[in-house]
Amino acid sequence: MMTVLNTQFIKIASPSDTAELGQVGAILKNGGLAAIPTETVYGLAANALDGGAVAKIFTAKGRPQDNPLIVHVASLEEIAPPVEEFPEQAKLLADAFWPGPLTIIMKKSALIPDEVSAGLDTVGIRMPAHPIARAIIRAAGVPLAAPSANLSGRPSPTNAQRVMNDLSGKVEAVVDAGACGVGVESTVISVVTNPPCLLRPGGITLEQLQSVLGEVHVHHAIYDSLEKGEQAASPGMKYKHYAPKTKVIILKGSFEKYRDYLLERKSECGALCFQGEEKELEGIPCVAYGRQDDQMTQAQRLFEALREVDSLNVPCVYARCPEKSGIGLAVYNRLIRAAAFEVVEL
Ligand code: TXA
Ligand code: MG
Repeated sequence: MMTVLNTQFIKIASPSDTAELGQVGAILKNGGLAAIPTETVYGLAANALDGGAVAKIFTAKGRPQDNPLIVHVASLEEIAPPVEEFPEQAKLLADAFWPGPLTIIMKKSALIPDEVSAGLDTVGIRMPAHPIARAIIRAAGVPLAAPSANLSGRPSPTNAQRVMNDLSGKVEAVVDAGACGVGVESTVISVVTNPPCLLRPGGITLEQLQSVLGEVHVHHAIYDSLEKGEQAASPGMKYKHYAPKTKVIILKGSFEKYRDYLLERKSECGALCFQGEEKELEGIPCVAYGRQDDQMTQAQRLFEALREVDSLNVPCVYARCPEKSGIGLAVYNRLIRAAAFEVVEL
């Protein structure tokens, strides 16, 4: 049985809120859990060097034990202890995209407990850009292991209220610093393989990675489910993800075909559409996830929209299909998992 904690809700508006930062830093230093803002999504943080503290993250989230965690640092000097070597390609990526929404998988050092790497010989490192995230890492004085701050399988939280919905009573503190800017999680790239391999699309686009590295292998599980019996290059690939309670089905095709398809099923469905399309879907409960012509807004809105869908009280929502270029690839990757890979070609 897990004990119920009295979760502190701590608002931090700026990196100069030293009293609040000290409070969160102390919780993390002492082996506790705190949900923290980052520029991508909220993370559930613990001292990455303390296996016992990290183990509590898995319990609080209900996370499968074999799914490794990303280690967050605030400066380049903190990279050397957790990794065995900082390869040239990782340096190029760090130069171009850190601090920012990019996680680089490298060979881990003996300092990283098995709870973080889930038994792998690699570790993902990320230097977040969010000023409050960086201030919290500094206040803790240690690198922080942090997965997204949702219950395992649920959409990632992009504001502190959604974190409270999932984790209240399970963690010592939830920091509130407003809504996240990027809205989807960091890009995950492995530089352990040659050429480097994109394992999860995110805030830094494939096109940006290619501009720095040249050739980048794109893992097929980004678009598709793993094949039967195939080993996951990134353990997160094999689990159910981002799912609202409502069933989601993606419809591929023009808006006109989408509208007709929904109007035929009016009484039994909802729409996960683009902003502005609601007025042509009269009588159908709608949630919009950003604008069709602005992929950044799709990324920002997607996870919140996936949670809002559950308040429509319909058995199923039909989603518009995002473009797979730029940050749209990350949006598509999350949405297709939320839909358990169910896509209808119109
Ligand atoms: O933006 C983000 O990355 C957020 C914020 C909080 O930083 N964090 C996040 O963590 O999304 P999480 O645990 O929800 O997703 C991490 C993904 C998982 O799919 C995991 O399997 C993969 O990264 N991963 C972590 N370490 C890995 C490793 N050593 N090798 C391969 N995949 C790894
Ligand atoms: Mg996650």
